[in-house]
Amino acid sequence: MIELSRKEDGTSDTEVFAKDVAHGLSQEPKSLPSRYFYDAAGSKLFQGIMALPEYYLTRCEFKVLTENREEMARQFAANGFFHLIDLGAGDAMKTKVLLRELSQQKSAFDYVPVDISGTAMSQLRDSLQQEMPSVDVQAVVGEYFPALEWLQDNKAARKVVLFLGSNIGNFKADESKRFLQRVCSNLSKADKLLMGIDLRKDPDVVLSAYNDASGVTAEFNLNLLRRINRELGGNFNVDQFQHYPIYNPHEGVMRSFLVSKEDQDVYIQSTGQTFHFDAWEAVHTENSHKYTLQQVYELGKACGFSVETVFQDKACRFADVLFTVD
Ligand code: TRP
Repeated sequence: MIELSRKEDGTSDTEVFAKDVAHGLSQEPKSLPSRYFYDAAGSKLFQGIMALPEYYLTRCEFKVLTENREEMARQFAANGFFHLIDLGAGDAMKTKVLLRELSQQKSAFDYVPVDISGTAMSQLRDSLQQEMPSVDVQAVVGEYFPALEWLQDNKAARKVVLFLGSNIGNFKADESKRFLQRVCSNLSKADKLLMGIDLRKDPDVVLSAYNDASGVTAEFNLNLLRRINRELGGNFNVDQFQHYPIYNPHEGVMRSFLVSKEDQDVYIQSTGQTFHFDAWEAVHTENSHKYTLQQVYELGKACGFSVETVFQDKACRFADVLFTVD
């Protein structure tokens, strides 16, 4: 397993976490970076989210991949050996559909899952060893760009990049463009990108997906505060915060917040700072953009990609779009 460190100057991951938290909580309005959702507890809660009846995204994408796996695998493998790079692979539950199909078609490829969670990557490597021993796996633990740069230097063959799960929607509008432009700059002509896109749909359906009746999503959002308590010596009274999601159908953006239920101070040992929360002050934690297909075409075009095929589940309104580098 390759581990790419985020730190360049000897600072530890915990110090970087502390700095990011202190920065976000000193902002007006307050925010916390969503990349910190996924510690061991958070990753487990997210698996719970994916199993929720309200959270249509994973199931819809699973269906899109399952129904179109033959065609996708054929298009990936059309020009001989390739590296299948899975950005934010997690447990690769969906990617396994494609891996199984590729190995059945006896395609020449290797699989390079990339994730910031070391635990997730070692579990994935082990489960693939068990389930699909013929698939050549090299897991990379790290952030997207260090990983893409590492690949640029170490993996010379054609690349097919997977960016599933509508992760693109978690960036701010200008960030998603910069992200895709950078992905493109690390690829060569005729390399491919398969990107999961959550499409615009009934706003009530979107809102329920981020506000489930059983409260798993609330726990997931609140785990961010629990993680600060655990790793940075924070004293958040988690009961005094509530999960608050809101969907703006005009922008197509689902936003999640943690709202302080009372006027309170929170001390964080690692930063040595006390942060004040007014009653009903909100901390922004996540954006999830929902797109029209037109927006997806335009986003791709602006970043050096052309749409090859749109794989779509009409009922669910989720698309996996296959792009080719121009
Ligand atoms: N990034 C995922 C998404 O946008 C994760 C997620 C699901 C999430 N529910 C959430 C993030 C609630 C914050 C709050 O679908």
